[in-house]
Amino acid sequence: MRKLLFTNIKELVQVREKGISFVAGAKMDVLPTIQDAYLLTEGDYIVDFGRMADIPKIDFSSTHVEDVTGKMIFPAWCDSHTHLVYAGHREGEFVDKIKGLSYEEIAKRGGGILNSAKKLAATTEEELLRESSVRIEEIIAQGTGAVEIKSGYGLSIDAELKMLRVIRRLKGYFDIQIKATFLGAHAVPEKYKNNKQAYLQLLVEELMPMIAEEKLADYVDIFCESGYFSAKDTEYILKAGKYHGLAPKIHVNQFTSIGGVQVGVKYDALSVDHLEVMTDEDIDALKGTKTMPVALPGCSFFLGIPYTPARTMIQAGLPLALASDFNPGSTPTGNMNFVVATACIKMKMTPEEAINAATINGAYAMGLEKQVGSITKGKLANFFITKPLHSYASIPYFFASNLIEKTYLRGFTV
Ligand code: NIG
Ligand code: FE
Repeated sequence: MRKLLFTNIKELVQVREKGISFVAGAKMDVLPTIQDAYLLTEGDYIVDFGRMADIPKIDFSSTHVEDVTGKMIFPAWCDSHTHLVYAGHREGEFVDKIKGLSYEEIAKRGGGILNSAKKLAATTEEELLRESSVRIEEIIAQGTGAVEIKSGYGLSIDAELKMLRVIRRLKGYFDIQIKATFLGAHAVPEKYKNNKQAYLQLLVEELMPMIAEEKLADYVDIFCESGYFSAKDTEYILKAGKYHGLAPKIHVNQFTSIGGVQVGVKYDALSVDHLEVMTDEDIDALKGTKTMPVALPGCSFFLGIPYTPARTMIQAGLPLALASDFNPGSTPTGNMNFVVATACIKMKMTPEEAINAATINGAYAMGLEKQVGSITKGKLANFFITKPLHSYASIPYFFASNLIEKTYLRGFTV
């Protein structure tokens, strides 16, 4: 079996001897590392690591050795929230926004999600696969080794299935770990504009059974927001998802707090995402639960909306994950290095907290904490090697530099 040995690693970051599920509260500020380390992989997996001084005897005839003096190794980023399967772009809206229109105003004019749905309906499955593959290649080069991808620009039976099939094909083509989420309830399509209930019924009664039958999704999502879907709509969708074995990962509290967090917790959501607007009640509702709060600072940056109150939430003992939200409307980037930097600079997370949030906590938020998210024996050999760095804080500090030299997925450099 293929064996790789990395020697003289300046610092091996996010080392967990024993696998953990996630870190919360004050523990988020602790990032275990080994300085002057080695890392050994065999086939798809991490099999050993430790201090150079303790390196075991190696059969060099069967092991490829790479000296990485001055460089660091991190577990690959775990991006638990993206919409990276989409058609075209929305650069026109970008300019409208520069000239003063808000995200909501753009949506009211027929822009926003409905604009992307129109473009997606006119795009073939092959073309959508091609566009999405380019984005996957880009995020892998930026250090991402696991990603969740949502549907939600289809908004019809055919187009939602088209998106989910593209996600399935991506799983086959790339070694990055991929989870699929059904987000039929992303917006009310034009055709149902005066009958939201009928659209929700179509999703629950017709589309969800098809998705479950073809096993096209792992999770279910809904955009619980004023002007989109209510807490009651959310309950309706999550209940149906539960019936079909789809755990919730939901969009809540982006602009307003309307009870979505509480519904998520009631239905054992794996994650509640966005959380730019958080009340004390929302924070209390998350305490002691297994639901991971997920912040998307790239979205706050691009739209100029508030950032998730990370300090208040961590102070309250909650965990927090960071994800990109890669999509054409609110966050046209899947670069997790930028996400980590923005979390430090704008949300006042420490580098330790942000790296935990973008690795092990992100892995948990997509049910992959046993496979990825830390340097642990038996986990997948999904990691990145940096350029020479002073310390791991260089990643958020040099916020616009590309400090990743190469990414490995399942023990193969990409
Ligand atoms: O997470 N807020 C809802 N959905 C996406 C944006 C979708 C879009 O504008 O295309 C988000 O930000
Ligand atoms: Fe999103």
